Amino acid sequence: VTKQWLIYGAYGYTGELIAREAVRHGQRPILGGRSEQKLRPLAEELGLEHRAFDVAQAKESLAGVTVLLNCAGPFATTVRPFVEACLHLRVHYIDITGEIPVFQFCHSQDAQAKQAGIILCPGAGFDIVPTDCLAALLKEALPDATEINLAFTSGSRLSHGTAQTMVEGLGKGGMIRRNGELVAVPSGYRLRRIPFPSGTRWAATIPWGDVYTAGVSTGVPNTLVYVATPLAMGLAMRAANPLRFVLKAPSVKQWLRKKVDRRYAGGPDEAARKRGHAELWGEAVNPAGHRIVARMTTPNGYTLTADAAVEIAMHCLNPAEISGYTTPSHLMGSRFILSRPGVTYEAPVADVAIPHGAS
Ligand SMILES: NC(=O)c1ccc[n+]([C@@H]2O[C@H](COP(=O)([O-])OP(=O)(O)OC[C@H]3O[C@@H](n4cnc5c(N)ncnc54)[C@H](OP(=O)(O)O)[C@@H]3O)[C@@H](O)[C@H]2O)c1
Repeated sequence: VTKQWLIYGAYGYTGELIAREAVRHGQRPILGGRSEQKLRPLAEELGLEHRAFDVAQAKESLAGVTVLLNCAGPFATTVRPFVEACLHLRVHYIDITGEIPVFQFCHSQDAQAKQAGIILCPGAGFDIVPTDCLAALLKEALPDATEINLAFTSGSRLSHGTAQTMVEGLGKGGMIRRNGELVAVPSGYRLRRIPFPSGTRWAATIPWGDVYTAGVSTGVPNTLVYVATPLAMGLAMRAANPLRFVLKAPSVKQWLRKKVDRRYAGGPDEAARKRGHAELWGEAVNPAGHRIVARMTTPNGYTLTADAAVEIAMHCLNPAEISGYTTPSHLMGSRFILSRPGVTYEAPVADVAIPHGAS
């Protein structure tokens, strides 16, 4: 019998891109989501089976499924019931989150997942596949690195779900990994000029998934993750720190959610996705102060997400001997990103040595 996989949240902006990408690969995933009304037209157009159910009914709804690809974010609200159901039914779990608490939760279920013989691989999209592979490649090139810093440019405007997920994170400030621990820091904690492939740009630290996962993939105890941003925006992020409590207020969040719904319907269209590309930069530093730098260019975040998530889901239909919580670079190999269409890579080169302790 052919093994089946299910895409949940299939009629969301990214879920639909993924469903169409899967069909292009000759795959026939089942489409899932909570609204029968929204799900049916897409399933009929693509000629795929569909199952409408709430996440709370996951246990009754995943029968016969080998791999679940969860695209229904913010994932903080969908990961628990799905992982519980996947453990119960022995279904591999993949999602496209970038939320640190979701990675932490999946990691906390590692022993249970190993016992059930299933894979838990959150972060199978733009966040975190290219940065996670970049971190792993840097670690291979500088095995005694004690610091890995990463930066990216997003390459297109935000989708509805990305904006909505950012609203949920507002007011929480930033996060870095220091001496192996996650440490809360103010928003825009560090601003830095980053030499991306197409030119040097300002970037500000953000609590991106790799703050957690780079340390898991590489064992390197210190990581900052930066996103390219105009300097004024980086400075505004810092200036807004004393006002963070305002952004946490439920009434303000509700107001922002409504604004996002109006402003960010869908996401970048096909032409914008084709036009945009993302750029990545990463550095590794060892205790002697040796520093190496690698860079990468990829298709825009949404195109890469669809491509990577489908590859990872297909891989998990017949995985090698691996189970438990895993990161994309661990599951697919650090060179996975280099195999993807439209990716160019500048392998690590030594940068000017910096005096010890001056990083
Ligand atoms: N890893 C990456 O690089 C990457 C790339 C793209 C997107 N993302 C993330 O993926 C998520 C989706 O983004 P998007 O742009 O596709 O968003 P979207 O267009 O708003 O779609 C979200 C989908 O999730 C469903 N959903 C949300 N909460 C749900 C819940 N509690 N129960 C059942 N279904 C639920 C929605 O169903 P309804 O319409 O019924 O509400 C919809 O189908 C976001 O969290 C975003 O940050 C990550």
